[in-house]
Amino acid sequence: MDEHAALLAALRLQLDWGADEALEAAPLGLAAPRPVRPPPEVLPATPRLAASAQPRPVPPAATEASALAAGAASLDALREAMAGFTGSNLRETATQLVFADGIPGSPIMAIGEAPGADEDRQGKPFVGASGQLLDRMLASIGLSRADNIYITNILPWRPPGNRTPTDAEMQLFLPFVRRHIALARPRLLVLLGGTAAKALLGGREGITRMRGEWHQVILEDGQVIPALATLHPAYLLRSPLSKKDAWHDWLMLSRRRDEG
Ligand code: URA
Repeated sequence: MDEHAALLAALRLQLDWGADEALEAAPLGLAAPRPVRPPPEVLPATPRLAASAQPRPVPPAATEASALAAGAASLDALREAMAGFTGSNLRETATQLVFADGIPGSPIMAIGEAPGADEDRQGKPFVGASGQLLDRMLASIGLSRADNIYITNILPWRPPGNRTPTDAEMQLFLPFVRRHIALARPRLLVLLGGTAAKALLGGREGITRMRGEWHQVILEDGQVIPALATLHPAYLLRSPLSKKDAWHDWLMLSRRRDEG
């Protein structure tokens, strides 16, 4: 795309985002950090068990996933451990493991749901139509895979027919995702869509209620990482009117990043 076409595409995105009206009374001043309100009430990272709840037996594959994840001392080791993990039959139907893209160690890490057909073919997250929208949204707040964002998914293997991951699949891969976050050490997380929000934040609320608020992910080593839930780019492609809400969320992320 030449520069002119890229500028037009960026303008189209602003229009898609509802930039025909002011969202806030005062100019946002994206270049300069603004004072922000303290984060709203934070949800617990994992739901508490009811006193009467009985512990469920842990399937052997889950024990293996936790042990492999905990034993990975680097991102390369984690990728290898995931590639060698045989506890999920998703690997039988997928072409290849989709681990991550972007710059490890970036201040922001984005987490989506699972690879689709394009990602499965290319071995990288978010390279299809929703990935192109994601890239434009990232660019609008100064983020790019080449410089300052790291991207992964809850599932590293494409579910057949692009179906939504089951709860059991999300739980199975969660130790790998949590270890991935610990090793990538982002300052902020952005959770793209309901699957990522549900897997990492727990709770029963849908993404439309969880989005637009800061939550927390508490890792095994005690690290607390602020996490913003937002709408999945694939959903935005189907529901363009929701781009206004997404724009609000990305601005929240941009402000928090600029707070330093
Ligand atoms: N949707 C996702 O959640 N992740 C991808 O990598 C691609 C599409």
